[in-house]
Amino acid sequence: MNKSIVVGRALLCAAVLLAPAAPAAPAAVAARPWLDIARTPDERAALLVAAMTQDEKFALIRSRFAIGEARPPEALGSAGYVAPVERLGIPAQQLVDAGLGVTNPGGMREGDHATAMPSGPATASTWSREIAFQGGATMGREAWRQGFNVLLAGSVNLQRDPRNGRNFEYAGEDPLLAGTLVGESIRGVQSEHVLSTMKHYALNDMETHRNFHSAQIGDRAMHESDLLAFRIAIEVGAPGAVMCSYNRINGTYGCEHDELLNNVLKRDWRYPGYVMSDWGGVHSGSKAALAGLDQQSAGEVFDRAVYFDAPLRMAVEAGVVPQARLDDMARRILRSLIAVGAFEHPPRRRPPDAELDAAGFAVAQRTAEAGAVLLRNAGGALPLAAETRRIAVIGGHADKGVIAGGGSSMVGWTSRGTNAVPGLQPTAWPGPVMFQPSPPLSALREALPGTRIDYFDGRDRAAAARLARQADVAIVFATQWAAESVDLPHMRLPDGQDALVEAVAAANPRTVVVLQTNGPVELPWAERVPAILQAWYPGIRGGEAIARLLTGAANPSGRLPVTWPVDASQLPRPEIPGLGFDPPQKPGDTIDYDIEGANVGYRWFAAQELVPRYAFGHGLSYTTFALSGLDVRADGDRILARFRVENTGARAGAAVPQLYVHLPDGHATPLRLAGWERVELQPGESREIEVLLAPRLFADYDPQARSWRIPAGRYRVVLGQSAADVAAGAEVEIAARGLD
Ligand code: BGC
Repeated sequence: MNKSIVVGRALLCAAVLLAPAAPAAPAAVAARPWLDIARTPDERAALLVAAMTQDEKFALIRSRFAIGEARPPEALGSAGYVAPVERLGIPAQQLVDAGLGVTNPGGMREGDHATAMPSGPATASTWSREIAFQGGATMGREAWRQGFNVLLAGSVNLQRDPRNGRNFEYAGEDPLLAGTLVGESIRGVQSEHVLSTMKHYALNDMETHRNFHSAQIGDRAMHESDLLAFRIAIEVGAPGAVMCSYNRINGTYGCEHDELLNNVLKRDWRYPGYVMSDWGGVHSGSKAALAGLDQQSAGEVFDRAVYFDAPLRMAVEAGVVPQARLDDMARRILRSLIAVGAFEHPPRRRPPDAELDAAGFAVAQRTAEAGAVLLRNAGGALPLAAETRRIAVIGGHADKGVIAGGGSSMVGWTSRGTNAVPGLQPTAWPGPVMFQPSPPLSALREALPGTRIDYFDGRDRAAAARLARQADVAIVFATQWAAESVDLPHMRLPDGQDALVEAVAAANPRTVVVLQTNGPVELPWAERVPAILQAWYPGIRGGEAIARLLTGAANPSGRLPVTWPVDASQLPRPEIPGLGFDPPQKPGDTIDYDIEGANVGYRWFAAQELVPRYAFGHGLSYTTFALSGLDVRADGDRILARFRVENTGARAGAAVPQLYVHLPDGHATPLRLAGWERVELQPGESREIEVLLAPRLFADYDPQARSWRIPAGRYRVVLGQSAADVAAGAEVEIAARGLD
C-alpha cells in the first residue's frame, strides 16, 4: 500500500513496554548461555539460533506496522514492531523514525521528550565528528527513554541534485564527509544501546518515481561515490542494520539486489549486520531472501504480500531457500541487537528529566549554530551592530518559528509543543508543513533589548519595502519546504519570495537574507544584498541559534557540504526525468547517473569547468584565517598532511581547512576531498595541524578485481578553505598499493 495513505491515517497511543532489567544472573546464564556477556555477539547469536524453533525464526524476520488499526497491542505505536521471544529472552524490537530526532508518530505520552534536530546538511556543515556524534547520542538516548530500541536513522544518500526532496535528511555530496559524519551520528545512537540503521541502500538519490525508477550507473562510478559513502559510514558507525532502498539499481530492486546485498555489502565489506527493507520495498520472498534481505518491514501494510511469512516458509520447506539462509537471517538480526547491548539494556520509558531534556535542546542549538553557513557578508554587514536602532524582520513566519522538512523523519512534537504555523498546504502526506516553535523574532528581541524590531509577514511587498525603508537594517527570512516522496520542481524560492527580497533590498541597501531551505536555491538577488546566512532547517532551537549568529554572540562556522549552483542549467540533469508527485509508472523509468558518474557535486563542476555560486566547503566567518606551510608525506601506509592555521582576525572562530587530492589531467575524477579538520582558534592564535588523509581517496576502484588500488605516482594535494580555494599545494610520492 502507498505509504502516504497509511501514515495519514489514525494515530494512536500505546501501552507502556515494561522490560526486564540489565545483566542476567548466573543461574539465568547457565540456562541461557547466549546471555553470557563474556561471549562475542557472534557466539551468542549462534547459540540463540540453535535454540530457536522455526516459528520463532519466522517471527523475527518480519516487522509489523505499529500505527493505526494494525498496531499490535504491545507496540508503542511507531513504524515497526517485532514481538519478543520471552522463552529465550529475546527483547521486542520497537522501531521508530528517524535521523533528525525521534518522531514517535503514534503520539507522545506524558513524560516523552524528543529534540527536533537541525537537518542533515546542517549537521554536515559543521564538519565536526564530535557534533555529529552528540546529535546521534541525543537521539539514541531520547529513543531509549521512550521505549524504542531501533532507530531508523543514518541517512547517507549522496546529494546529486539540489531538488531531491529528501536532501534535508542527508549529509551532502561528498562520500568522505557524508560517510564520516553519518557514521559518527550512528555511533552516537548506538552508544545509547539503540540499534541504528543506515539507509537507503543504494542510489535512492531522487524521490520522483522512487518506488520503481532504476538508477543507472556503472560499477566503478557507483563504488567511488554513493557506495563509498555507505562503506565509510559502516566503518565509522557499525550500524546494526542497513535499510535497502525502494528504487531499482541498474534494473534490479534494492531489496532483491544480490550484487549489492550479498556480494558487495556482506561479502566484500564483511558487513555482519542485517538488511531491513524500506516500507513497501519488497517484491518477492525467495528472490529477496536469496539476494540478502534479512527482514521485511511492515509487509502486511505496504507490500503486496508478507513474503517473509507463508511464501518464504514454503520456499524453505521446498529447499528453494536453504534452511541455512533462514538461520543466517535470524542470526544477523540477533547479533546486531546483542552488539548494541539491547539484551542487557532494554529500553525503558522514563519519567521526565528536565536536565536531560535541556541537554538535548542544547545539542540541537549547538549544531544549528555550528552548521549555519554565512554565504556572503559584504562590507561586514553582519554581525548586527549593538547600536542598531531599528530592524525590520520580514517574512518566513519568523514571528512563529523555523521551518522543517516533511515525511517520515518529521519530528511533529517536542516538549515545546507542536506546529507553530498549522494549516499550510499540503496538510496531508507528505505534509503537514511544519514550523518548529522557535521564533527568530522573539530571540532577536531578547538579544537586542535596546533595538526596536518590527515584524511584517511580507505578503504585501510594497508594505514590506515601506517598513524596510524606515529601518536601519532589514532581515528577510526566506523558506523553502521539501518533503519525502516528492522532488522540488525547480531550484527557485517559492511564493514570490525572490520578488520580496528584491523589493526590500531596493528599499534598504542594508538587507540581510536568512535562508531556511532544503539546500541550494537560485539567488538572483545575491549581489544586491550585503549578507546571506544559510540556516538550513535549523531545528527546535533554530530561532535562538539564528539570533545569536546575526548578533555575533556566535560566530558562523558552517561550511557547505554541497556545491551551490547558480541555477539548474549547471546540473547534470537540468530537468528531472518524469517529475511529479506519484507520477504514473512507466516500465522504462530510469535516471541516468552515468552522466556525472562519480563526479558528484564539486567534482562535476571541476570536470565541466563550471563556476558555481558558492563552492563546496565555502563559508565565511566574522574573523579570518590564514593557512600556510603545507607538507604532505607518506609514512608507511599513512598519508599525513601538516600545515599551520592562524586566526588573523579579531574574534574567536572555527576554521575548517580542507585537503583535496588533485588528480592528473585525464583522470576520471578531477579532485577528491581527502581530509579536513575543524579548529577553534582565539584571535591571533595559530596552530600546527596534522591531518591523516584517507588513502581510499587516492585509490581507484577496479570492478574486475573488485578492489581498490592506489596507482604509484606523485600526487598533488591542495589545502584550502573550499574546493575552489588554493591556499597551498604540495606533492607527495606514493607507492602502488591495493586496498580491499
Ligand atoms: C522511508 C524510510 C522510513 C520508513 C519508515 C519510508 O517511507 O523511506 O526512510 O524509515 O518509511 O517510516
